Amino acid sequence: MAFSGPWRVCYAANLRSRIASRVLWKVSEFRYRNENDLYQAARVLDWPSLFELKRTLRVNVTAQKSPLKSLEFATLRIKDAVCDRFRDALGERPDVERTSPDVRVHAFLEADRGALYLDTSGEPLFKRGWRADAGEAPLRENLAAGIVMLTGWRPDEPLLDPMCGGATLLAEAAAMARGRAPGARRHFGFEKLAVFDTHLWETVKSSKSPAPSEPRLFGSDNDEKALAAARRNLAAAGVERWVKLERADVLERRAPAAAGVLIANPPYGERMGNAEELARFYPRLGDALKKNFPGWRCFVFTADLRLPKLIRLEPSARTPLWNGALECRLYAFNIVSGRHRRRGGP
Ligand SMILES: C[S@@+](CC[C@H](N)C(=O)[O-])C[C@H]1O[C@@H](n2cnc3c(N)ncnc32)[C@H](O)[C@@H]1O
Repeated sequence: MAFSGPWRVCYAANLRSRIASRVLWKVSEFRYRNENDLYQAARVLDWPSLFELKRTLRVNVTAQKSPLKSLEFATLRIKDAVCDRFRDALGERPDVERTSPDVRVHAFLEADRGALYLDTSGEPLFKRGWRADAGEAPLRENLAAGIVMLTGWRPDEPLLDPMCGGATLLAEAAAMARGRAPGARRHFGFEKLAVFDTHLWETVKSSKSPAPSEPRLFGSDNDEKALAAARRNLAAAGVERWVKLERADVLERRAPAAAGVLIANPPYGERMGNAEELARFYPRLGDALKKNFPGWRCFVFTADLRLPKLIRLEPSARTPLWNGALECRLYAFNIVSGRHRRRGGP
């Protein structure tokens, strides 16, 4: 997604976007055929006016249909161009730092066009600064927030995650309901750029948040270790008082209210559980949802595309989403007692 606006918009997008991974500032567009063209495209930019010599640097190159043989070499040429520009202007060059650089330059290359960006986020935005315990197979925070938004959950409705693991979905839902800015506890790449305006940033940070509501959130898991991770994460996020956690098997779990939204992210074969076990589990999950959650809007997020067939409930929606490189679906099931069984089901 692309947008334009003054720095205030960029600061606010970093601070408040729950679903973005990064906000990049496009600083140049160019045509190219080879690595020398890349060098020239990067060399013409006045890098010392964009960030100070004392900042450490990292260059990332991503390409689609690029004719270049080595992206590593392309990266090196762009880095050389930035450093040469500094050396010409100041007699010295910035240091390169791979793990936690102050400044990240991204180049995106297509077949014969490219663009250079300065990363205004720094660490990716899903790093909110609240995760105390990774638990097993946690969702990224921005994906979890996106899933909650796609369900259409409103903060005045009960929300249950009956396979909550480290409670990413619940922590994100709680932060939404409380109107907390996801980036309130972290730093951003734009703070290291020469154009950084401390006063404007303070104004953006202190701008009014939406009025908080009192959400009713419920989480359960059949694994005590997962619950311990959930407790630690919710406490670190400062939202534990809005989430009731308990140990329960999803197949036995009772609905905590007459209606609400249920979101489950079952284990998936590649990282947890095996394919046959899951094939036996899904029909039982379908039965449990039908028996225990009439009146609820239920959502299952998984990379297992066999789920809708095996769960034997008719999805009312299936939204494709990517979990890293893994293609997933968010399946929606409106549970109405005695209906929605597929023909041929028991
Ligand atoms: C993929 S993880 C969920 C990760 C979670 N969404 C997060 O972001 O941290 C799946 C979870 O389901 C739990 N689980 C597996 N079988 C279960 C069952 N029958 N009842 C309840 N929880 C179960 C596992 O213990 C695990 O914590």
